[in-house]
This record gives sequence, C-alpha cells and structure tokens, in this order.
Amino acid sequence: MRISVIGSGYVGLVTGACFAELGNNVLCVDNNELKIKSLKKGIVPIYEPGLKELVTSNMKEKRLSFSTSVKEGVKFSEVIFIAVNTPPKSNGEADLKFVENVAREVAVNMPSYRLIVEKSTVPVNTGEWIERTVKMFNKRNIKFDVASNPEFLREGSAINDFMHPDRIVIGVGSKKAEKILTGLYEPLGAPIVVTGIKSAELIKHASNSYLAMKVSFINAISAICDLMGADISCVSKGMGLDSRIGSDFLKAGIGFGGSCFPKDLSAFIRLSARAGYDFNLLKEVQKINEEQISLVLKKVKDMVWNIEGKTISVLGLSFKPDTDDIRNAPAFRLISMLQSEGARIKVYDPKCMEKSRKVLSKATVFCKNAYAAVDGSDCMIVATEWSEFKELDLKRIKNMMRQAVIVDGRNIYDPQKTKKLGFKYVGIGRR
Ligand code: UGA
Repeated sequence: MRISVIGSGYVGLVTGACFAELGNNVLCVDNNELKIKSLKKGIVPIYEPGLKELVTSNMKEKRLSFSTSVKEGVKFSEVIFIAVNTPPKSNGEADLKFVENVAREVAVNMPSYRLIVEKSTVPVNTGEWIERTVKMFNKRNIKFDVASNPEFLREGSAINDFMHPDRIVIGVGSKKAEKILTGLYEPLGAPIVVTGIKSAELIKHASNSYLAMKVSFINAISAICDLMGADISCVSKGMGLDSRIGSDFLKAGIGFGGSCFPKDLSAFIRLSARAGYDFNLLKEVQKINEEQISLVLKKVKDMVWNIEGKTISVLGLSFKPDTDDIRNAPAFRLISMLQSEGARIKVYDPKCMEKSRKVLSKATVFCKNAYAAVDGSDCMIVATEWSEFKELDLKRIKNMMRQAVIVDGRNIYDPQKTKKLGFKYVGIGRR
C-alpha cells in the first residue's frame, strides 16, 4: 500500500519506517525543512535503537521517502496518518492547531477518496473536529473518512513495540475505513480492537493515565517502605506476580517524565473537567509524582547533611534509558533544586549531553563519562537506569569520590553489596 505520514517526529518517523519495513510505500512529511533535508541524507534527528538502520535500509529499497509538502503527501496516498505534535498549552490542554492545519490542507488537496487517520495523542472529540474541518474546506465534495488509530509505542523500544504490539486499536465510522486499516495491520498478527472513534481516543488517554497511576502508586508504596523499613523490590515483586496486577510499571524511581505521561495526564484531567467530571484520582497521581523529587532531595540531605558547597554527580539525564529525550525528565528538576541550594553539579548521560547543555545552567559541569562525573564528588545520584551504570566498577568509584555516598534513584544497585564496598547507600523504598 501507499501511505502518507504527516509529521515526522517521534511517532511519525517510527510509524513511517515500520510501515515501510512491512513492505508498504511510505512518504513521510514534515514542515521542518532542515529535518527533511537531513532525513533525505539518512540522518535521523532522534536517538531510538534501530531507527536509523530501518530508515536507511528502507530508503535504499525505495520504500521510504521524505517531503516538506503536505500537498504532495495528500496526492501520494489514499491513507494519510496525522502524527504532528500536540504540545501542551499553559493551561494543560493539548494544542491542536497543527492537527487543524493539516486537516485543512488535506481537505483542499484531496484528488479523490482519502482516509485521514489521527495518530497523534489527542483529546476525545478531535476526530469530530477533523471531520468538520475537512467537510468545511472540501469544496468539491470528495468522499473521505476519519479514523483514530492511537499509538502505544514507548521511547527506547519503539520499533519492537510497533512490530509486536499487545493490541491495535482502530476507531472508525465506516466499513471502508475499517477494511483499509485492518488490512494495513494484518501482517503484525496482533489482536485488533475495532471501536468508534471516540472510544479509540479514550483508550489512549485511559491507558496512559492508568500506567502513570501504577507508577505513582508504587512510588507512594516506596515512601511507606522507607518509613516502615520494608523493601520496595520485594513488595513490588510480590504484588506483580498476581496476574490481576502484573509486574510491569511497578518500578519505583524518581518519578515519571517524558513527553507523554505528564502531558496526557494534564490534558485528560482538563478534558474530563470540561465534560463535567472532576478526576481527583489523576490529580493525586500528578501530586505524588511531583513530591517524589522532593523525597529524593531529602534523601540527599539525609546522606550529606548541608547541600551548599557539596559536589553532587547526577548519572543519567534522559527521562528513561535508551532515549535522548529530555522532555520533562525528572533529573532536571532535581538538578535545579540542588543548584538552588548551592550544590556544584557534575553530570553525565550516554546520549543527551548536547541537548542538556542548552537547558542546564552554565554552572553545571558536563563530564565525558560516569567516572569523570563522580571524581571528587560527595554524592552520586542515579537518575536514569542506563545499562552502563549497572556495569560501573563501584570499587574504583569509591576511591574516586570525596564521600562514598550513593542515592540510587532507580534502584539499580544491590544495597547490601554496595554497603559492603564501603558506600553509604540509599535507594527508593529500600536501603
Ligand atoms: C508511554 C507509554 O508507555 C506508551 O504506551 C505510549 O505510546 C507513550 O507513552 C505515548 O503516549 O506516546 P513513554 O513515555 O515512551 O511511553 O515511556 P514509558 O516506558 O511508558 O515510561 C514513562 C515514564 O514512566 C518514564 O519516566 C519511566 O522512567 C517511568 N516509569 C515507567 C517508572 O518510573 N517506573 C516503571 O515501572 C515504568
């Protein structure tokens, strides 16, 4: 099939490259000329394991191409995925102006029937708005359908998630749209849930909120473990083996971040309130997440006493491992709190040093590796669980630090072994 994907950001690019890998002919469109110029040369602007290889091999096979013209995208294919960004506005609502612009451009350029599929995470009713917008600008009365096909891929494992999904959700209003989309996804062999458009939109919001709730729940339990002297790893293992609960998303840490959970939660709370439902449960999920960083700061204080004048190393900046995404990464809030209390901060991350330089204060010391970051430091904080941090030579680190103190924000080290090596150690919900 020929497929157009409008918006070559994280979701759009992965979707386009994976559809091409499945044998389709894909055109990825983006209005950022610089990005498209780079992509045409095989330069992928984001770090996602396997994505560069997938993009270059499919370009070589002539199944994947790029353009800055939405018009070209609309002409290219009967199926048009909208995967433009929906950034949060200051009031927490998703800003849908890019979706609206694309809908308008599709409407004026459709040569014949088009299926317009929303892939971006959008509030319930966006499907209806897209339909209204296209109708309004579709002066030649060309037939079209709108569908919702939310994406559930995670950064860091996006290609695997796309190729091996637990389920595919398709929200449609016509048999024709259903046939096209089920045909497109059939090769993946995953269960396909066909619903109305609104239900599909809601599935995405409800799934992300539920997962964020799981993370905040386990973080709350970790605080109780700290107070009562229990071990969160044992508690979460014991809970997770219950198949009704499941072990995923039960890892306590410094809180969730990224471009999805924080944004989606705010948007879902807003849109529920507008519809007449006060979603207090989700407000509490947000509150627990915010407080988690303060709890980490308190742990640092409990370990090194006064923050002012101390050198503190932060290992990991991205919001999770295997990505260079620093949007809403909890490490940055922690660093700014520590700096405002007078700490000298040394940082290292395997993938996002350049991006972070633009965001962190000039006083921050950027180091070439984890060892350089902990050299002379009073406290080492693990903020992201990159695999390479699990492999560090802790003996060597102990000898390099001014004070051998570890605040393990992702529980990657064994507390007993670490203490045996002579460290003062505290994790999240265990010590
Ligand atoms: C999330 C969802 O998992 C995807 O299904 C969805 O498609 C995506 O949002 C989206 O809406 O686009 P993502 O934000 O890439 O994916 O990352 P996750 O793996 O879900 O992690 C989110 C945050 O939760 C991270 O900060 C991570 O460190 C934290 N987390 C996750 C925990 O602290 N503990 C856990 O056990 C799991």
